[in-house]
Amino acid sequence: MNSNKKPLNVWCDGCYDMVHFGHANQLRQAKHMGDYLIVGVHSDEEITKHKGPPVFNEEERYKMVKAIKWVDEIVENAPYITTLETLNKYGCQFCVHGDDITLTSDGVDTYHIVKAANRYKECSRTQGISTTDLVGRMLLLTKTHHERDDEISLHKENTNNIGKDKQAQSPWTGTSQFLPTTRKIIQFSSGKAPKPGDRIVYVAGAFDLFHVGLLDFIERASKEGDYLIVGLHADKVVNRYKGCNYPIMNLHERVLSVLAYKYVSEVVIGAPYSVTPELMDHFAVDIVCHGVTPVSLDFDGSDPYAEPKRRGKFKLVDSGNTLTTSDIVQRIITNRVNFEVRNAKKEKKERDMYDKLYLQPCKNNIIISNNGSIGIPPVNQ
Ligand code: CTP
Ligand code: C5P
Repeated sequence: MNSNKKPLNVWCDGCYDMVHFGHANQLRQAKHMGDYLIVGVHSDEEITKHKGPPVFNEEERYKMVKAIKWVDEIVENAPYITTLETLNKYGCQFCVHGDDITLTSDGVDTYHIVKAANRYKECSRTQGISTTDLVGRMLLLTKTHHERDDEISLHKENTNNIGKDKQAQSPWTGTSQFLPTTRKIIQFSSGKAPKPGDRIVYVAGAFDLFHVGLLDFIERASKEGDYLIVGLHADKVVNRYKGCNYPIMNLHERVLSVLAYKYVSEVVIGAPYSVTPELMDHFAVDIVCHGVTPVSLDFDGSDPYAEPKRRGKFKLVDSGNTLTTSDIVQRIITNRVNFEVRNAKKEKKERDMYDKLYLQPCKNNIIISNNGSIGIPPVNQ
C-alpha cells in the first residue's frame, strides 16, 4: 500500500454460522481486494427470521469471525440486506460476497441495492464445504468424509445420494467434494518460521468442527510463548479415541480450519498421538499445553504427554470455556427437525431463484439459458 494513499476499506457480511474454512477463504479473498477488512455479522434474530436458527449463537460467531487472520474489524448485528448507508457508514467502497446468492425470507437478493449501485464484487465460493453439509454429516452419522481420497467410498457416497431430491438441491451451495491443494494451504499459512529466541508452544488434538471452546484454548495457549504449533491427529487416530463418526471434518479440512486463526503459527498435519522426544527436539518445543478436558491414553495404555512431563515441559491451561465438539453435535441432534426444515427451505428457495434467473423451459425438456446456450437441465452443479 502507498503510504500517502487512503486505505481501501472492504465490507463483507453474512451469518458465518459454524464458521468454517469456506468463510475464512471468502474473507481472505476479500482482504486482498483492499487494505482493511470490515465484516458485518448478523444477529441470531435476523438469521432466525430469514434462514432458521443458527447453530452457533451470536456471541460465538462474533468472537470467531474477529479471530480470523484476515479480519481487521467486525460489526455486530449487521442488517441482513446490505445497504449503501452501511457501506458509507464504515467508509467501504464496495462489499464482497461469494458467487452464490443470499435471499431474504421473501426470496429477495440481499445484495440487490449494492449490485444496482455497482458497489458489489464477487469472489469464488469454496466448493465442498458448507454449514448445511456439516449439519448433514452430523445427522446422518456418515463416515465417508474420512475416506474422500478413496474411490470406493466416493462410489458409496454417490450411490447413497441416489433417491435424494436432486431437484431441491441448491445449484450454488449444494456441496460437491472439497479438493484440498497445496496452494490452498500456502494461501492460509503465514509461512513464517520462528524467530531466534522465540518460545515455542505445542498443542495437539482433533480440533474438529473448530468452535469457540477450541478458539479460547488456542488463544490461551498462544500466550505461553511466541510461536504456536498445533498438531492435528489423523482421522483414524481421532476415530480411535472419539469413536462414532468423529472427526466430523477430515484432516485436510481441519488443517485449513485451524490455519485460518490469528493465534496459530504452524500446523503439523497428522501429528503422532503421543508427543515423542523426536517431535519435541525437531520443533525445539519449550512447552506443551493441554486444556482441562480429559486426556485419552494411547493405544498401548501409555500417557501421550509422558515425554513433555518427564522434561518438565508440560502445562495444563484452562480455556475458561467448557464447550466441546460433541456439545455442537448435540445442539444439532436436539434441533434435528428444525435444521432439516431449514436446509430444505434454503435449498428450494435457491433452486427456484436459479431457475428464474438462468433457465427458460422450452419444448422437449431442453433449456435455453439467458446467455443463449442450450443444454439439458442442470442438476447439482
Ligand atoms: N462462502 C464461501 N464459501 C463457502 C461458504 C460460504 O465463499 N463454502 C461465503 C458466502 O458466499 C458469503 C460468506 O461466505 O459471501 C458468508 O456466508 P453465509 O452468509 O454465512 O452463508 P453460507 O455459508 O453460504 O450458508 P450455508 O453454509 O448454510 O450454505
Ligand atoms: O478435543 P480436542 O482434541 O479437539 O481438544 C484440543 C485441545 O483443546 C485439548 O487440549 C483440549 O483440552 C482443549 N480444549 C479446551 N477447552 C475446550 C475444548 C477443548 O481447553 N472447551
